[in-house]
Amino acid sequence: MTLIDRSASESSKHRIQELVRQLNEHNRAYYIQDQPLISDQEFDALLRELEELETRFPDWAEPDSPTRRVGGGVLDGFEQRKHRRPMLSLGNTYSEAEILAFHERCIKGLGYEPLYSVELKIDGVALSLHYQDRILQYAVTRGDGVQGDDVTANVRTIEALPLRLGPDAPTDPLEIRGEVYLPRAYLTRINHERALSGEEPYANPRNLASGTLKLLDSSVVRHRRLSAWCYQLDGEGPLLQKNQTHHQRMALLQAWGFPVCEHRAGPLPFEGVLDFISQWQGRRQELPFDIDGVVLKVDDFGQREELGYTAKSPRWAIAYKYPAQSVRTRLLDVLFQVGRTGAVTPVACLEPVEVAGTVVKRASLYNEAEIRRLDLHLGDTVSLEKGGDIIPKITDVHPEQRPAGSLPVQFPRFCPDCETPLDCIEALHYCPNHRLCPPQVLGRLEHFVARKAMNLEHLGTETLLQLLQQKMISDPADLYELDAVRLASLERTGDKSIQRLLEAIQASKAVPFERVLFALGLRGIGEVASKTLARHFGSMEKLSMADKESLIEVHEIGEKSADQILAWFADPLNQRMWQRLQAMGLCMSIPQTNSSPGNDDPNAPRPLAGCTLVVSGKFANMEREALKVLLEEAGGTVVSSVGPRLTYLVTGSDAGPSKLEKAQKLGIQVVNEAFILELLGKSPLPL
Ligand code: IVH
Repeated sequence: MTLIDRSASESSKHRIQELVRQLNEHNRAYYIQDQPLISDQEFDALLRELEELETRFPDWAEPDSPTRRVGGGVLDGFEQRKHRRPMLSLGNTYSEAEILAFHERCIKGLGYEPLYSVELKIDGVALSLHYQDRILQYAVTRGDGVQGDDVTANVRTIEALPLRLGPDAPTDPLEIRGEVYLPRAYLTRINHERALSGEEPYANPRNLASGTLKLLDSSVVRHRRLSAWCYQLDGEGPLLQKNQTHHQRMALLQAWGFPVCEHRAGPLPFEGVLDFISQWQGRRQELPFDIDGVVLKVDDFGQREELGYTAKSPRWAIAYKYPAQSVRTRLLDVLFQVGRTGAVTPVACLEPVEVAGTVVKRASLYNEAEIRRLDLHLGDTVSLEKGGDIIPKITDVHPEQRPAGSLPVQFPRFCPDCETPLDCIEALHYCPNHRLCPPQVLGRLEHFVARKAMNLEHLGTETLLQLLQQKMISDPADLYELDAVRLASLERTGDKSIQRLLEAIQASKAVPFERVLFALGLRGIGEVASKTLARHFGSMEKLSMADKESLIEVHEIGEKSADQILAWFADPLNQRMWQRLQAMGLCMSIPQTNSSPGNDDPNAPRPLAGCTLVVSGKFANMEREALKVLLEEAGGTVVSSVGPRLTYLVTGSDAGPSKLEKAQKLGIQVVNEAFILELLGKSPLPL
């Protein structure tokens, strides 16, 4: 290295450190204080500068660099980790009398009245974070309370959680517990997108947060915008010895850069606790996230020790849960909607009423059993609840207010759209006329063209309806046989829009296999499962031949989904459709990346794009150099030394022990040849 090189490298090191510091500060201002200091563009410009410098000088990359939040590697399962101390649950109650009884038990146990800390009870997923030397080491879900899933890769993408702690934090091991949640607005956005592509909405932010934390692909997690509030600090060292109350420890967490919810109070006497509870009962809708109650904790740790634990929960804390919000309204009608898979869903049409901050006009009735359970009659007065759930639910019917002569709601025996007798499978009704039933045909096409599927948004519902009415199409494969002459007969379509439409249809042939699979709309197979199946089987051909056993082997595919996949392939119409689509040039496999001529397709999927890899050792299926070529063709960058920004260390036999050791120390994922080949769609191979 020349002197000039060395000084360039040194100044880049300082610039990298400065950028990391600044970007982390901006992240905190944005995600924790909710007060951005710079615009999104300015932030992106700084982030790009950092990315470029880190690519040029990988050795200077910092472990807490915001670029390490990007996510990328796909895991084949989660490691289990045992909790240092069990993650207990809380006793809970809906009654003020029981809160008072809890207070009295505390007085009895201690011989005097304790002071309490009170906090919101966040309706999310519990998480345990471990730091040492001020660096995030790993993060574990609650699991069964004794051990949970190591979800570090996913947690790294949560911008609100620091990867490195401020200089005032101790270097001793620390454990922080908190709640991961999804802001309500993101659930609304995601559900809106799902509705557009005909998918079932998620019921509430908690379910989606929990499902997201357990995804194996952290790049998907990153886009889900999870956030977190921390509520417990444990660890060793003199600093914690000096801070033996809950409120002091919350202040420490806040000072070290953790997200701590500001809506908390304490230390305060019991009367203050009741005020806090009633204050937030009326204000919970003001919060951008869901809470399901308030947690009340004895503030002093010495007192906590005296009070102790039951087998399941501490005696020094209790949750007061808010009742679900309920209102009464009238049932005007029940619609029976046929979805793209033929499922018939009863939907209650209600007199509009406000509940939990939104006006509700519709509620799902799920199935016939639910209608029977409620003994629902047209014109009934019903109670509607919206707890943590976004989708309102009819919980009660009030027969005493039933208008005279009103008729019970009957589930139809025939499809409301095509009059085919309905099938009943496991209490759900289906119209079996998949080929011709109009809402099913339209629903499948709408799903196929949706943005997250084939992205043919020029084909709106109006155009699809016209194409169907004029018998120009009946299934997705027909779209690829449309031409300008036939399209010219449609209403409100000029030459330009026809041209654009045909171009978009052509361009959709480059959509990767995983999205084509999603577009085909197999029942119960959403975006994530499509990706997993595409990667696991590599091609439609292989997926179509898979038996139940090999489908269930795939992570995230349960028995029910496996049956549905088998049923889809058993239908000759579906077989014909995907084979026609394949013949028309749609991607029905993950392209083989071995260096065959013609492999320079710029649209080819690059499963390792953005990943940096080190290859070490001897490999069973190919020479090391050949493997490197393969990795680079798949978009990866192969480097020679293990550093903090590495995505994977790929090891064969006789891999360098120092590389392995360094990777383990830095928490880099170590994978074998089979894992990589599978990722590149080169299965079947032994795992
Ligand atoms: S303290 C011994 N504080 O509620 C457990 N928990 O039902 C101490 N939760 O598993 C937990 N907000 O996931 C505590 N401010 C808060 C909380 C909170 C939500 C969750 C947590 C816990 C569950 C217990």
